[in-house]
Parts: sequence; structure tokens; C-alpha cells
Amino acid sequence: MKATHKLLFVLCPMLVLVFIYYSSGKLHLHVWGQKPHVDVEPTVSLTVTKAKPKPKVTTEPEPEAVVSEGQVVGSVYDQQGFVLKLDGKLDSLASSRSHLGKRPVDLVYKYDNLSSESCKPGYAAAKMSAVYPKFVKPAPMFLDRNFKRLGKVSSFLPPFGFKTQERIIDTILSVTKNYGLSPELESLSCKRCIIVGNGGILANKSLGSRIDEYDIVVRLNEAPVSGYTRDVGTKTTMRITYPEGAIQKPERYEKDSLFVFSAFKPLDFKWLRQMIFREKLQGTEGFWKSVARYVPREPSEMRILNPYFIQEAAFQFIGLPLNNGLMGKGNIPTLGTVAITMALHNCDEVAVAGFGYDMNTPHAPLHYYETVKMSAIKESWTHNISKEKEFLQKLVKANVITDLTKGI
Ligand SMILES: *[C@@H]1O[C@H](CO)[C@@H](O)[C@H](O)[C@H]1NC(C)=O
Ligand SMILES: *[C@@H]1O[C@H](CO)[C@@H](O)[C@H](O)[C@H]1NC(C)=O
Ligand SMILES: *[C@@H]1O[C@H](CO)[C@@H](O)[C@H](O)[C@H]1NC(C)=O
Repeated sequence: MKATHKLLFVLCPMLVLVFIYYSSGKLHLHVWGQKPHVDVEPTVSLTVTKAKPKPKVTTEPEPEAVVSEGQVVGSVYDQQGFVLKLDGKLDSLASSRSHLGKRPVDLVYKYDNLSSESCKPGYAAAKMSAVYPKFVKPAPMFLDRNFKRLGKVSSFLPPFGFKTQERIIDTILSVTKNYGLSPELESLSCKRCIIVGNGGILANKSLGSRIDEYDIVVRLNEAPVSGYTRDVGTKTTMRITYPEGAIQKPERYEKDSLFVFSAFKPLDFKWLRQMIFREKLQGTEGFWKSVARYVPREPSEMRILNPYFIQEAAFQFIGLPLNNGLMGKGNIPTLGTVAITMALHNCDEVAVAGFGYDMNTPHAPLHYYETVKMSAIKESWTHNISKEKEFLQKLVKANVITDLTKGI
């Protein structure tokens, strides 16, 4: 009897490990649809070009085609799948893509006539596709009652998906009853969005009125508006937050903004349920700092951010370690980058302000609203600020996003 118990004790974890190993392998293939890397191996292009050094046969257009194919096969893309050579010019991007035979993006023709004042429909996504051909635009901002259809997130645990949390999400969504933006915003044919980061770089730049011009103003966590409106504006369409980052003083919540919840761990969903049902907060030992105990928002003003943006930002855009799809050292993107990822999928134009840390000036303020110094962020275990910065720089350089404070 005892021996069988021992055997089971050893066998069970092994079976679980084997299962995880296999299922993660499958997920990997299924989720990312990764092609075997053969087609980007430089050796392939070498053999192809070497095979055709024959004297020119002018009647045959083939050698030309082979040569240009060889150039494509070479390292045109970086590890994440971004076009390597960005010189910031639309036409060069368009032409570098046209010989791939996929959707030649004639951005110049489509957009250059529009004045900088007018909203350019589909601009951010078109630019993104030009530098990152794998980009697929549809991905809803928030979870709705039909969220289980979202295959890419259903197989990952938080923060990269909602696996194991389906029931609690069902309960939450059955009372929030709203899963989109306001009807006015939803009806806009072109949406300009700005993500206001919390960086000290936003201080004393008087960008408030420019920020207020955007249709959708996204703020993060507890970043205050009152007292800072000259620099950060007055409008808040939504505030994206997780329990530890949420505003704790009820009187500091602004009116008329959506409370958008972003989960980083399973416990976070439980917290959201307690907030929505106005329950007494219990089981707070899993949080890494104190959390809000009351959120002065109606359920109809609450949304759950689609966790796909965390997943995509981490594993596809930034290239953080997959760690079997589990949260681990340095594989969680910052909320600001998650918000930008959301905007790329849901806005026609995307701007940011208050982003960027300059690690060379550790005594500069980290946030526009407090005196914590930049050096504090070095302690971060979860984020990889330098890799994230590389990604954001690609977006800025290619004009996918506009950086008002030029800190990226
Ligand atoms: C751009 O402007 C030119 C000249 O002003 C005009 O002929 C052309 O039709 C415009 N293109 C678009 C796409 O509006
Ligand atoms: C912004 O200006 C105020 C008043 O001039 C000053 O006290 C504060 O230190 C400045 N903040 C930053 C981050 O430069
Ligand atoms: C960030 O990524 C770089 C490059 O992959 C790696 O060398 C570094 O250790 C990472 N930092 C953290 C905090 O994970």
C-alpha cells in the first residue's frame, strides 16, 4: 500500500510535467503559428544566388527574380519579425514590402494628402503592418460575454490569458453588462487615441490641451489629473489598472471614465469581483502592496482588458521569455506598453506622452506626480525595461506612434 502511494506520488508530478511540456509545445505552435525558420536562414539565400552565376541570359527575367528573392530571404526582419531597415520613410517601407507580393502598402498615396489635423483612418495599423508584417488588427479592447471564443488567450493563465478564471469572469461580465466604449466613441469612424504614461518627463511641458484633443485619453493606475491638468489634460476616457495600482482614495476617482481592469494574477479577478459586488475585501496577502478596498464605480463603468495585449506585447512584440506561458522573471510588459498594444488594435491613430526612462539620469523623477527617483525602477523583477524600450523605439522610428514628449 505504502509503496504504491509513493509510486503515485512520484508518477503524478511527472505526468503533469509531461503534459505541460507537450501542451505548451502545442500551444506554442498553435498560438504563434510559427513557421519553421528555414525560410529566413541566410544559408538558403547563399545557395540560391550561387546556383545562378551563369552569363546573363537577357531574354529570361528569372535571374532577377531569384536575386531579389535572395535579398528577401536574407535578414530583412529582426528576431521579433520587425523590418530591420527603418529609415522612417513611407515609400521605402512600401517598396521593401511590395516585392513580397503581399498587400503593397501605398501609404504615401493614401495619407500624405491629409492634413495633420485630420484623423487618418487605419493609419496606425497600416504603419504597423508595414514594419511588422505579421500584424493582424482585430483584437477587441475588452472581454465580452462571448470571451471564450478568444482562442489565443483561453489557453494561458493570467496575466497572458484567462485560463482557470472563466467562471469568475462570467459572473463579473453578467453584472457589468457593457463591453465596449461609449456609444459616441464607438460610432466615430476614425479614433485618435493617446496613452498618457506616468513619466516625470511629462512634468512642466504644458501638453494638457494637446492631450485633451484626442478622442480617447487612456491613463494608467493612480496617475492624478487634478492638480496637474496643465501638463496632463483634463479628459480621461479610461483608466487601466490592476489592484495594487488602483487609486485607493475614493474621492480621487474622476467622473465619466471607464475603470478598465487588467489582471496580472488569478487573485486579481477575485479582487475585481469583490469590488463590483461591494464585498468586504478578503485574502489580501497575495498582493505585493496595499490595494484599493472600494472602487466608486458602477458595474456598467467597469471593463476587463483583453489579456491578449499582455501576451502579444510580451512574447511577440518585445520578445520576453515565454517561460512556458507562465509569469516569470522579466517577462511581464509594463502597463504602458500593454495600453499601446491595445491602441494599435483599436485606434486609427496612436500617440503617447510621458513615456521613457532615461537610466543615465537616475535622479530625475520617475513619475510626474511624486518625488520617487528614476533609480527606484532598477529593482524591478518583472519587467525588462531595456527590451521594452527597444520595441517602443521601433514604433516611434517608423511613425506607428507619435511620442509627444519624445522620451522613448
Ligand atoms: C492628393 O492631392 C493631389 C493634388 O493636390 C490630387 O490630385 C490627388 O487626387 C489627391 N489624392 C488623394 C488620395 O486624395
Ligand atoms: C516643474 O516646475 C515646478 C515649478 O517651477 C518645479 O517645482 C518642479 O520641480 C518642476 N518639475 C520637474 C520635474 O521639472
Ligand atoms: C532583459 O533582456 C536582456 C536581453 O534578452 C537580458 O540580457 C536581461 O537579463 C533581461 N533583463 C531582465 C531583468 O530580465
